Amino acid sequence: MESAKPSFSELFEHTINFPDPNMRERLGLLVGLDDTKETLKKIIGLLINPDGVAEWAKKHHPDAKQILNFVTRRPPLIILAGDVGSGKSELAYTIGDAVARQQNIEVTLFPLSLATRGQGRVGQMTQLISGAFEYTLEHAKKLKNEEGKSRGAVILLVDEADALAQSRENEQMHHEDKAGVNAFIRGIDSLGNGKLPAAVIMCTNRPNSLDPAIRRRAAEIVYFKRPSAESRKSVLHQPLSELGFAEDDIIKIVELTGSTGERSYGFTFSDLVQRLLPSMVLDAYPNSAVDPKRAIQLTENILPTEPFKERMGNGE
Ligand SMILES: Nc1ncnc2c1ncn2[C@@H]1O[C@H](COP(=O)(O)OP(=O)(O)O)[C@@H](O)[C@H]1O
Ligand SMILES: [Mg+2]
Repeated sequence: MESAKPSFSELFEHTINFPDPNMRERLGLLVGLDDTKETLKKIIGLLINPDGVAEWAKKHHPDAKQILNFVTRRPPLIILAGDVGSGKSELAYTIGDAVARQQNIEVTLFPLSLATRGQGRVGQMTQLISGAFEYTLEHAKKLKNEEGKSRGAVILLVDEADALAQSRENEQMHHEDKAGVNAFIRGIDSLGNGKLPAAVIMCTNRPNSLDPAIRRRAAEIVYFKRPSAESRKSVLHQPLSELGFAEDDIIKIVELTGSTGERSYGFTFSDLVQRLLPSMVLDAYPNSAVDPKRAIQLTENILPTEPFKERMGNGE
C-alpha cells in the first residue's frame, strides 16, 4: 500500500485568509441563515478562545465548574446538511470572515472537496483525509497560545463529503470508504484532544446516511432547508425591482417558485440565482428589455431541482 502523504497543494487548491472583503460580501448576500451564522460564529469562536466561556461563567455562574468541561471538550466538528443548492458550501467558505472580525484574529480556511477526489486508486480517500487533518493539526499547533486566546485559527472544510457520510454499517460500503470514515474520526479526535484553535466543517447532501460515529462527534448538525417565501422574496426583490418589475409581479414570481399543487417542493436558492434570474436575462438579451409577463411565463416553465432521494436502509 502506498503511503506517501499528498502535498499541501495536492490537497488544497487554494487557501483563504480572513478577514477578506470579498468573502464578507458573499457572506452578507446569504439570506435566511442568520441563526446559523450566529451559531457557527459562537462555536468556532469558543474553539479559538476557550477562556471566553470561563469569563462568561465567572460573571453569570461563579459556582459552576463542571459544566464548562462539557462545553469546551466538544469535538470541533460542525456538520452542514441538506439539499443541493441550499447554501452549505457558500456559508462554509465564507463564515471564517465573521469569525475573524469578531475575534480580531486571522482565520485560514483549508478547503478540501471530496467530490472530484478520492475516486482513484485504493487508499486514496484515506490518504486525503489523513493528510488534510495532519496539515490542519500542524498549522493549528503553531497558532495556539499556552494561555488564553490563540493567535489565529484554522478551519478545515470537508465539502461534498457524501462518500464519507455513508454509514459504516451499510454492508455495501466499500472497505476503502470505511477506512476513510475511520481516518476522519481519528482526525477529529486528534484536533479535539489537542484543544487546538481549529474547527472542521463538513458538508453533506445526505444527512440520513451520516455515519453514527461521525454524527455523535458533531458539536452541531445544521439542517439547510429550501427557502421560505420570505427568503425567496429577499433574494429576488432587489434584482427584479432593478429591472423595473412591479411589486405584484415580484409577488407572483415568489409564489410560483414555492411549492405548488403539482409538487411538494419549491425552488432551491441556486435554482433562483443560478437558473431563474440568468434565464430571464438571456431570454431578453440582446434585443429587448426583460418583460415581467414573459418572466412569469419562464418561471412557470422552469422545474426546481428535485430533492435528493436518500436510500434508506435496505430495499428500494
Ligand atoms: N441562503 C442563500 N441566500 C442567497 N443565495 C444562496 C443561498 N444559498 C445558496 N445560495 C446561492 O446558491 C448557490 C449554490 O449554493 P451552495 O452553497 O453551493 O449550495 P450547496 O453547497 O448547499 O449545494 C450559491 O452560489 C449562492 O449564490
Ligand atoms: Mg456544496
